[in-house]
Amino acid sequence: MRAIAIDAYGGVDRLALRELPTPPVGPDTVLVRVRTAGVNPVDGKIREGHLAALMPSHFPLVPGWDAAGVVEAVGPAVAGFAVGDEVIGYVRRDDVQHGTYAELVPAPERCLADKPVQASWAEAGGLPLAGLTAYQALQLARTGAGDTVLVHGASGGVGHLAVQLARALGAGRVIGTASEANHDFVRSLGAEPVSYGDGLLDRVRAVVPDGVDVALDLFGGDALDVSAELLARPARLVSTADPEHVARLGGSYVFVKPSTADLGVLAGLVDAGRLTVHVARTFPLAEAAEAQRLVAAGHVRGKVVLEV
Ligand SMILES: NC(=O)c1ccc[n+]([C@@H]2O[C@H](COP(=O)([O-])OP(=O)(O)OC[C@H]3O[C@@H](n4cnc5c(N)ncnc54)[C@H](OP(=O)(O)O)[C@@H]3O)[C@@H](O)[C@H]2O)c1
Repeated sequence: MRAIAIDAYGGVDRLALRELPTPPVGPDTVLVRVRTAGVNPVDGKIREGHLAALMPSHFPLVPGWDAAGVVEAVGPAVAGFAVGDEVIGYVRRDDVQHGTYAELVPAPERCLADKPVQASWAEAGGLPLAGLTAYQALQLARTGAGDTVLVHGASGGVGHLAVQLARALGAGRVIGTASEANHDFVRSLGAEPVSYGDGLLDRVRAVVPDGVDVALDLFGGDALDVSAELLARPARLVSTADPEHVARLGGSYVFVKPSTADLGVLAGLVDAGRLTVHVARTFPLAEAAEAQRLVAAGHVRGKVVLEV
């Protein structure tokens, strides 16, 4: 099969299109023929070796944790999926080797759900990791009816889905931080935009003088300190960025987990027209290095997706 792989940790120039053997399919594993693979900031961190001490990793290493595709084969213990099913997956296995930047990926059953029918392949490939992160973070903060929610980085992959999910969970108001150029986009998602950077606390207070009920931080640093000032209960502060800092403030760190049930909720909201994945740009598989470079620059509106 064709895949993007690296033989050693390093820069984007290590990402090369290769011919690799078909990956092994375990008894409870689903082999997915990948149509699209979302590109996430973590893919670049893996390429640079930052997760090597946390998860067993093997070369040649195919990056990528997001996929949408069609079931090609199933192991004998797989009960929930059959050959030909259209699926989405947050394919985070316990080791790092067989990723989704490939024509075929072996996905543990717990990582998959049915593809939302209304989503294009590009939208479906960009949904799993960012959507699950947003959903699980909002659930951890017990986001519900009438809450005022602050989302830092509301125009990015996780943030633009978090704004919509907060509304779907019943939030009365959502404040979303973004650069000026993305304010109309953030407004279109259902949030009130505020520019990030120096003076953020005063700008948010000008919009919501009584503060917020829930805050979702994606960047750490000032975003966390400002959030703590605005929250009545620090336990409703959640961060994907800085475990120690958020713990010091009394909040929680999220590391997104594979979940068929949660993916099913997201797919249902997409099909109900209540959640839309904004695809900023697609790249062919062979241009994975360009795609990772764009994501690493940190200003993508929505998602970048590879077409395999
Ligand atoms: N722990 C986990 O499980 C987990 C899961 C997913 C993601 N993450 C982490 O969460 C972060 C966000 O992920 P993502 O996929 O949403 O990234 P992304 O799509 O690359 O985020 C890009 C967005 O970030 C905005 N941005 C840049 N600097 C900002 C700042 N200082 N304050 C507020 N917004 C800013 C940009 O807005 P403008 O263009 O308007 O500047 C852009 O829209 C990353 O660090 C990622 O590694 C962690």
